[in-house]
Amino acid sequence: MRDTLVIANWKMNGSRADNARWVETFNAKAPSLSSRCVVCAPFVYLSDLVNTLSIDVGAENVADEVQGAYTGEVSAEMLADIGVKWTIVGHSERRTLYGETDEGVAKKCARLVSANLRPILCVGETLEERKSGKTAEVVLRQLDAVLKVVSPKDLGAIAYEPVWAIGTGLTATPEEAQAVHAQLRARVAEVDDVAAQTLSILYGGSVKPANAATLFAMPDIDGGLIGGAALNPNDFLSIAQACPAR
Ligand code: 13P
Repeated sequence: MRDTLVIANWKMNGSRADNARWVETFNAKAPSLSSRCVVCAPFVYLSDLVNTLSIDVGAENVADEVQGAYTGEVSAEMLADIGVKWTIVGHSERRTLYGETDEGVAKKCARLVSANLRPILCVGETLEERKSGKTAEVVLRQLDAVLKVVSPKDLGAIAYEPVWAIGTGLTATPEEAQAVHAQLRARVAEVDDVAAQTLSILYGGSVKPANAATLFAMPDIDGGLIGGAALNPNDFLSIAQACPAR
């Protein structure tokens, strides 16, 4: 079957001292986990984490170009060079606050695949889009842009993150999330049925220790992408413990 995955997205949080405490707490309990975990962190901390964490490390963003005169950008090859294995792409905060387009997100995914990194592709609708019945249209448009340039077998994971549930305390119900996950998997299956069955589709948006188990019990929810709750290693461990191996 497919891997269950619980991925931390620290966003723009952390310090060397905080991270060292996080790693110590996490590493002590990591061997007891049955699901796979990844920590995605700001660029400046990635090397430290690669050297100290007992699990894979991911970035939160990547350049859409290969190399050259792109001041301030970090390429997929550079991430691979320091031992990073995964990268979040197309998070709604990047789409909304930094103007990332579906095509730009697709280009970033292609760069990651060329560098043998696993993209974690984020898709999700706004509250307005959900209320006007456009959820499927939006998430499938975001997915299709990437499937034009990247084979589904090269995606590390898809994360369904309803924008209205991120950092708000509002969560999609397990049934609402399951419905979207099934639509995403069906679309991937139109391109590659085998890859669709093994691709991990994660839910993100106010996942907490208290609601994780009911979300992860749904057949097409293969784990989570965790923001706020992942800043506390014990909460992140509790969420990971709620994610069964499949
Ligand atoms: P929260 O878990 O804080 O809602 O954030 C979710 C998220 O954006 C993960 O990428």
